[in-house]
Amino acid sequence: MADFLSAYSIQRWLESCPQGYLENTEYGHVPGEKEPERLLEDEFFRQRAISMTVQLVAGERCALAASSGLINAAPDEPSKRFLATQTLDEARHVEIFTQRLYDLGVKKDDLESVIAEFANPNLVKFAETLLEKVDKKDFVAGVVGQNIVLEGMAFSVFEMLHAGVKERNPRFASILSGTIADERRHVGFGENRIGSLIQQHPEKKPEIQQMQKQMTYYMLATFADRFRARDADEERRRFDAMGDGKRVEAEWNGMNLAEVPAEDLEGLLADTVLKEFKTRLGRIGIEYQTPDRP
Ligand SMILES: [Fe+2]
Ligand SMILES: [Fe+2]
Repeated sequence: MADFLSAYSIQRWLESCPQGYLENTEYGHVPGEKEPERLLEDEFFRQRAISMTVQLVAGERCALAASSGLINAAPDEPSKRFLATQTLDEARHVEIFTQRLYDLGVKKDDLESVIAEFANPNLVKFAETLLEKVDKKDFVAGVVGQNIVLEGMAFSVFEMLHAGVKERNPRFASILSGTIADERRHVGFGENRIGSLIQQHPEKKPEIQQMQKQMTYYMLATFADRFRARDADEERRRFDAMGDGKRVEAEWNGMNLAEVPAEDLEGLLADTVLKEFKTRLGRIGIEYQTPDRP
């Protein structure tokens, strides 16, 4: 418990996060840095960036509701304090991705309607499945759903996005890398805190496994919707045109994202996240449940 206390304390959070990798940043990036002009001028890419960023806002709003909701359900004081830091992290993520929507041209008055229009219905169901547990003050299920499933997914998605944009959009890449550093801390808490609680409450396993299976299904359905709706040919053509014929370095999991077909990318992302789930759930004594493939 002593290590747990210091690793997830507010003091450690202050030193590593606001006074560490976020020092001298503005909404997660170098102050004054702008989105690439080519992105803002190309209506196809601008709309696509808005629609993608809406999914991030929707996911982070869920994380904010879950981490804040779990504070009062937590059985011990150190977990409450950690969740308070996580609550601020998630609120920051909501803020920086919302700010990105404004920077991409979304009007402040239109924010909620744009989110309602573009938020993927399966992602909304994914969030509802988790928030049901939080509303019931079910701490163990809530932390597994939030800090293992939701954040395990977010972590891999952010890393893939980061690899895809680091060369052409350094501003969005730095927003993402600060977020990834936060998510790494949150996932670590989930694993460290929840393993012993599951040992104490083995009777909760079936219900947690059921939640995981449902959330995994909605996640895979979200990936399927997102990737299969893409006009990959049009995207590739425009992407090539923007790159002046130069090969883009976008390595992720041994593949160049700029060259992988959309359907392969869906499989690669799904496989990466599911592998993470299996490993992390295994560490806390939960057996991964395979959902139907959407
Ligand atoms: Fe987050
Ligand atoms: Fe998080």
